Amino acid sequence: MILAIETSCDDTCAAVLGGDRLLANVVSSQAEFHARYGGVVPEVASRHHLLLVNQVVDAALADAGIGLGDCDRVAVTTHPGLIGALLVGVATAKSLAAGTGAELVPVDHLHGHVAANFLGEHPAAPPFVCLVASGGHTSLLHAADYADYRLLGRTLDDAAGEALDKGARLLGLGYPGGAELDRLAAGGDPGRYDFPVGLRERGNLDFSFSGVKTALHYHLRDAGREAIERNLADIAASYQAAVVEALVEKTIAAAGAAKCDRVCISGGVSANSFLRRRLREECRRAGIDLHMPPPELCTDNAAMIASAARLLPGIPYPRYLELGAGGAV
Ligand code: KG4
Ligand code: ZN
Repeated sequence: MILAIETSCDDTCAAVLGGDRLLANVVSSQAEFHARYGGVVPEVASRHHLLLVNQVVDAALADAGIGLGDCDRVAVTTHPGLIGALLVGVATAKSLAAGTGAELVPVDHLHGHVAANFLGEHPAAPPFVCLVASGGHTSLLHAADYADYRLLGRTLDDAAGEALDKGARLLGLGYPGGAELDRLAAGGDPGRYDFPVGLRERGNLDFSFSGVKTALHYHLRDAGREAIERNLADIAASYQAAVVEALVEKTIAAAGAAKCDRVCISGGVSANSFLRRRLREECRRAGIDLHMPPPELCTDNAAMIASAARLLPGIPYPRYLELGAGGAV
């Protein structure tokens, strides 16, 4: 029985995994508190995690119908993320583990995103190529085994989620913009405007999203208010399509380069409906087996941290008391 805690950014999350059954998955979003600033304010995030973390853990235990003493392991995200936010989760996990005698399992947030694919009735099995696309990261990994990952490509500037959020902001949408852009784009024509797809040359598995963002900026500057309002859905759909095409093309190319016929996706951007549709189409065309976690397991959650923890060694008391947060990606 694993209790997992995730506080790396602006969602306060706790989950309970019993064997391979997900018994609880609680996510408390702080988005409304950050919306007025147009982005996550690290200090505000840390303070809200402090207020929410115990309630979220209690809710997860209640949903699972277990007590704290039933947990053999407490897993927690230790990196990468906002340092103050991570520290709230790490301190909470240490205290709960110390109080119950459970082992503590430190988990890499990105490993967690990949491990979201190991949950559910039809879990993915390695080897596979995984696209990790979130607000802070965009990478392509080859998973030779459950915890053996090799980096194939990554963004050289913005993350895909960052590009979508910034684009949404330029279009006057709320924060966080990715999901709102997804909704607006659903009613627009993705082929209406030609926004650039970064680093498109053959064999290049890295991403760049700074060009598409600049292109949107100039498009909006030159278009005029009335035309922007009239064509907003088409602009949103075309902009989102340029970001999505880069993700899809490079994911398919990475599967080819790694000689791998299975693809998984993870990270908040993989909740995007257009990305999911385009990947389905292109994977079918290329004869690739595609595995997609449900959208609620793509965005930040603690179920994925519990899933990763199943595969990792635990640290017994009192060695984990030394554990901090942060560290290499
Ligand atoms: O994985 P995540 O929840 O947190 C990080 O680790 O960053 O990813 C958050 C990112 C944000 O940029 C958010 O706008 C984006 O995922 N996102 C979406 C959608 N839902 C969340 N982007 C596009 N379409 C969505 N439906
Ligand atoms: Zn994440």
